[in-house]
Amino acid sequence: MRKPIIAGNWKMNMTPAEAEQLIVELIPLVKDAACDVVVCPPYVDLAVVGKLLVGTNIKLGAQSIHWAPKGAFTGEISADMLLAMGVSYAIVGHSERRQYFGETDETVNKRAKAALEANITPIICVGESLEQRENGVTDTIVSKQTVAAFAGFSAEEAERCVIAYEPIWAIGTGKTATSEDANATIKVIRDAIAGVYGAKVADAVRIQYGGSMNPKNASELMAMPAIDGGLIGGASLKSEDFSKVVHF
Ligand code: 13P
Repeated sequence: MRKPIIAGNWKMNMTPAEAEQLIVELIPLVKDAACDVVVCPPYVDLAVVGKLLVGTNIKLGAQSIHWAPKGAFTGEISADMLLAMGVSYAIVGHSERRQYFGETDETVNKRAKAALEANITPIICVGESLEQRENGVTDTIVSKQTVAAFAGFSAEEAERCVIAYEPIWAIGTGKTATSEDANATIKVIRDAIAGVYGAKVADAVRIQYGGSMNPKNASELMAMPAIDGGLIGGASLKSEDFSKVVHF
């Protein structure tokens, strides 16, 4: 059985003071969670949030990670820097990074590999645009993104990854994929993993849904057999909303 995992992607929101307030509110609300709980604040909040999370059941995540250990990579962050903050998860290849910051399947693969080598769990994002969905190429796109993200990974490394299926048209729009569509596409992603590593590895990988997931639709989405969790944007910025999703 795969343990459900609910992660909050704060994106470019929350100053350190705001982050502190949100986390102080959140800790008691999710302390009895049956699933894994992760928050992914902006880098400048990691220190304050990381300190507050010590001894709690909430894990700390970052919103990206660079593949090089150090060096001339302005604006980037290394695995060692994240480890020093207490980070144990890193989002990799979010569609906003792919769309606005030139992230490619190749850089996603390099970032995920660096995370795995540092014992940080990559949350690898895949998902189709509206145009791709309308053109009927969703399955091809998500399969290709998944296989490319895992390129060169051993079976043991593949098993340690989390995937977030985030249809781009559902992000921040209030439009959610139907639970049936999300379930079906996640099955396609799992089949793509099985095609490379076999069913045993594919069955171990946790695959989240992301895209306008909120307290109202979380239970229906989480009831689908293929959906193992959620990557939550907007609804992760309010402690009560996020805790309701955690308690789907
Ligand atoms: P929203 O929940 O705001 O749609 O964002 C989803 C997302 O992109 C999480 O990574």
